[in-house]
This record gives sequence, structure tokens and C-alpha cells, in this order.
Amino acid sequence: MNILITGGAGFIGSHVVRRLVNKYPYDKIINLDALTYAGNLENLKDIESKSNYTFVKGDIGDETLVDDIFKKYQITHVVHLAAESHVDRSIKDPLIFLKTNILGTANLLQVAKKHWADDYAGKLFYHISTDEVYGSLDMGTDLFTEETPYDPRSPYSASKASSDHLVRAFYHTYHMPVVISNCSNNYGPNHFPEKLIPLFINNIIQKKPLPVYGKGENVRDWLYVEDHARAIDIILHKGKPGETYNIGGHNEWTNIGLVSLVCDIMDKKLGRLAGESRNLITYVTDRAGHDLRYAIDASKIKNELAWVPHETFETGIEKTIDWYLANETWLKNVTSGAYQAYYDKMYH
Ligand code: NAD
Ligand code: DAU
Repeated sequence: MNILITGGAGFIGSHVVRRLVNKYPYDKIINLDALTYAGNLENLKDIESKSNYTFVKGDIGDETLVDDIFKKYQITHVVHLAAESHVDRSIKDPLIFLKTNILGTANLLQVAKKHWADDYAGKLFYHISTDEVYGSLDMGTDLFTEETPYDPRSPYSASKASSDHLVRAFYHTYHMPVVISNCSNNYGPNHFPEKLIPLFINNIIQKKPLPVYGKGENVRDWLYVEDHARAIDIILHKGKPGETYNIGGHNEWTNIGLVSLVCDIMDKKLGRLAGESRNLITYVTDRAGHDLRYAIDASKIKNELAWVPHETFETGIEKTIDWYLANETWLKNVTSGAYQAYYDKMYH
């Protein structure tokens, strides 16, 4: 397989790249990433010199570049993760989300069609999406299934929903073999510290306030990033074209419950007094249009592809906190932008 992974320098993408490069030495892995603020080649240092791995710096919306990559590497599979991914940024500046997430995806589909349409055998366009396309659940026991109607409510989720629709349109209209997965909130190593868990770990280390939106009662379903990368590997190899798979951790937490747990674990690990980090919790103005609850029914991927998460939230969060404490330099560099400046120079 000659696999084009987009967004491979980001949080989830770097775990997927590492997994595929190490596990499938006879496949070629091409990582196309624009290295936005969220992309960091430091995430892939351990595999960058492997012979089955190539990095290309560039934009998924650049038709000439994507066309050249398809030609040069005879791409047979696309694993599409590149996106603008942060909801708060989409509220402040929606247009870049539409450009990257919708038009960027459309460009990839268009180029893939050009190269594959004569013979779709052995080809697959795999689009990585989010549970946020389904909207918001009430408190209770309802879960998002693959049949839940789309109801995106932020510019980010609207852009992801739009890209999902485009991918399905290429399946129905042009018979392109596609597969989509919609996953819940990921956490783990290399998560950019603007998202709840790494932001709060970083702030606790630095004894800075922990800004909890609203009353902290919103619920998210958390999945350890390695479990997601393993699900992506399984879907890439065994997923049925035309199908959608929901991926989730069976780990629902209110934000305040999760934050309190992280505070308590970190007090122990940092040798601080019990309750010291909880004192940093500060309730701030709620996120505009803040979705109340997400929760995934992952029984389809369990029954059809035998995937279940390996980590519980308790084991995953422990590993995550340990990683951040052992990698304070990574944290400092991504927050200071030092690596971004270094790689910008190197690849321009
Ligand atoms: P991320 O923000 O950490 O990484 C995104 C990557 O895409 C970065 O490396 C960035 O440089 C790259 N990128 C951005 N714009 C690009 C462009 N125009 N051309 C090429 N590369 C570009 O994101 P993430 O959290 O790793 O999410 C990856 C994917 O998974 C996204 O599609 C996201 O919607 C989806 N997803 C994320 C989560 C989550 O909890 N993080 C959950 C479900 C689905
Ligand atoms: O559900 C999957 C989605 O999960 C992905 O598609 C997105 O790419 C990813 O960013 C994530 O979106 P969320 O908005 O759920 O994640 P975030 O970490 O930004 O916020 C998690 C919850 O914590 C949410 O209810 C908002 C709240 N929050 C977040 C931040 C950054 C706070 O209370 N304070 C904060 O400072």
C-alpha cells in the first residue's frame, strides 16, 4: 500500500503515522502536513529516518502538489486527518475551518478521483471525522449511533459535517471506495495545550488558573489516542467501503469531574498538598453554543471489526500526565513556538 496520510504531524496523525510506519515496513507512508501551529515534526522524531516514511510539507488544498504526490508515489490509500481542529478557534475565526476542512477535503477527493477513477480496485479514501457532527445530547443515556442524524452546531463541527457529506457524495456519485469514522474526544501524549486536558496539565504545572467554561457540567466521552490509532489501523485494513464507524471510549466525564481528578493525580505526582491544584479552578464565561454532552455507541466497530478500547480513563490519564511531566521541554517548545519557527525555516 502507498498511503498518503494528511495531518500526520498533528496530535492524532502522529500516532497513526508512527503505528503504520513501524507495523507495515513494506508499505510506503507519505505524510502531507502544512505544519500549522498544531503540526510539529518533533512528534515524529523517532521514525523520521525510516525508509518507508516520507514527509512532505504542504497544503491539502494545493491541487498541483497533491496531484504530484499521487503521481510520484502511486498513492493507493488516503488516510485524511488534516484539519483545523479546535472548536474555540472556529468560533473566533470560522473561515480557515471552511477552507481547510471543506475545500481541502474536496481537493483531495477530486485529485484521488482523477487518479483512481479508471480502476478503483485496491484503493480507499479514509476520512477521519468527529462525533461533534451529530450535535449535542441531553443528560441521560442516549448515545450517538451511525444512524443519528447530523446536527452540527459549531463552525468546526459544521465544517467536519460538510466534509463527511462530500466524502459520501463521492462514494454515491463516482463510486469512489470511501470509509468514514467519527470519534469522540481523544487525549494522550503530543496533544496541543489549547485543548482541555493538556492545557490544564500545563497550567497545573505552572500554578496558573484552570478556566472551566460555564458550570463545568458538560460531558465528553474520552478515548486514549493510541486506542484511536489502533481503530484507524483496523478500519484502514478491514473497513467496508461505503460504511461509517463510530469510535468511542465508554468514558463519560463531566468537565469538572475530569478536571478534579487531574488536579488530584497531579498533586500527588508533584508532591503538592491535597487540594492545592483544585484551588486553581476558575469558572469562566461559557463557550458560545457549548454542546452539552457527547457519547458514542461503539457497538458496530466492536461487532464488525472486533475493536474495543484497551485503556480505561484512569489508566490513560495516568500515562498522559506522566508523559507531560517527562516532556516538559516539548510543552515549553510548543507553547513558545520555538519548534514551529525552526521547522518553518527548514522547510521553506
Ligand atoms: P491537530 O490540530 O492536532 O492536527 C491537525 C494537523 O493537520 C496538524 O499537523 C496541522 O499542521 C495539519 N493541517 C492543518 N491544516 C492543514 C492543511 N491545510 N494542509 C495540510 N495539513 C494541515 O488535530 P487532531 O486533534 O490530531 O485531529 C486530527 C483529525 O481527527 C481532525 O480531522 C479532527 O477533526 C479529527 N478528530 C479529532 C478528535 C480529537 O479529539 N482531537 C476527535 C475526533 C476526530
Ligand atoms: O468530540 C471530538 C472533538 O473533541 C474533536 O472533534 C475536536 O477536534 C476536539 O478539539 C474535541 O472538541 P472539544 O471542544 O470537546 O474539546 P476541548 O478540549 O476544546 O474541550 C473539552 C471540554 O472542555 C468542552 O466541554 C469545553 C471545555 N473546556 C475547554 C477548554 C479548552 C473548558 O471548560 N475550558 C477550557 O479551557
